[in-house]
Amino acid sequence: MAQVTEIDHPVVKHYLSILRNKKTETAAFRRAMGSIGTILAYQALSDLPLKTQEVETPIQTTMGHKAGPEVFVIPILRAGLSLVDGIINFMPDAKVGHIGVYRDEKTHEPVNYYHNFPGGLNNAYTLVVDPMLATGGSGSHALNFLKENGADNIRFVSLICAPEGVERLQKDHPDVPIITAAIDEKLNKDAFIVPGLGDAGDRYFGTL
Ligand code: PRP
Repeated sequence: MAQVTEIDHPVVKHYLSILRNKKTETAAFRRAMGSIGTILAYQALSDLPLKTQEVETPIQTTMGHKAGPEVFVIPILRAGLSLVDGIINFMPDAKVGHIGVYRDEKTHEPVNYYHNFPGGLNNAYTLVVDPMLATGGSGSHALNFLKENGADNIRFVSLICAPEGVERLQKDHPDVPIITAAIDEKLNKDAFIVPGLGDAGDRYFGTL
């Protein structure tokens, strides 16, 4: 079963509370999302393979390191974009792809409406990014699509998860570790995470 890492860090708890607070305005919401994005990336990349290589310091030659596979960051549109700045601040070399998924109003099935990602998914270390893992439908669908396109080394990075979403992802994708800032209590009848923070995309983009 996929490993789930819930980051236990005072700075994460601080920014998470800013994000949860319904009175937080857009600018502060964006800053908090950026800070947590960087911390999530730090954790998600903690087992990034390294190659050793010599490096010449001004004093002498020593052994250094270079990250092995390329890092791809793939946000699930639209809300996934909110974590990208924080992640690429930490890993500026990362390539960014996009996948758009919406939920059909009648069937409730996830549908792709857009994708554009760099070639070479099968040799990359891929972070799939979405701040909300609610039922897990969108995440599981995006992971299926990326795997069909060659991705085979994936981490799912999410700000807040519902236990239902974690269970769904673990069942559908036991090979994909989940990195999150919080696993909340439950979903409500409208499939919103409780206590959650509302709709992350609307709050980040100011489209409430
Ligand atoms: C939200 C969120 C996830 C999805 C989670 O997106 O960003 O993508 O719902 O729900 P699920 O786990 O039940 O699939 P939303 O549909 O609000 O679209 P947006 O990103 O464009 O705001």
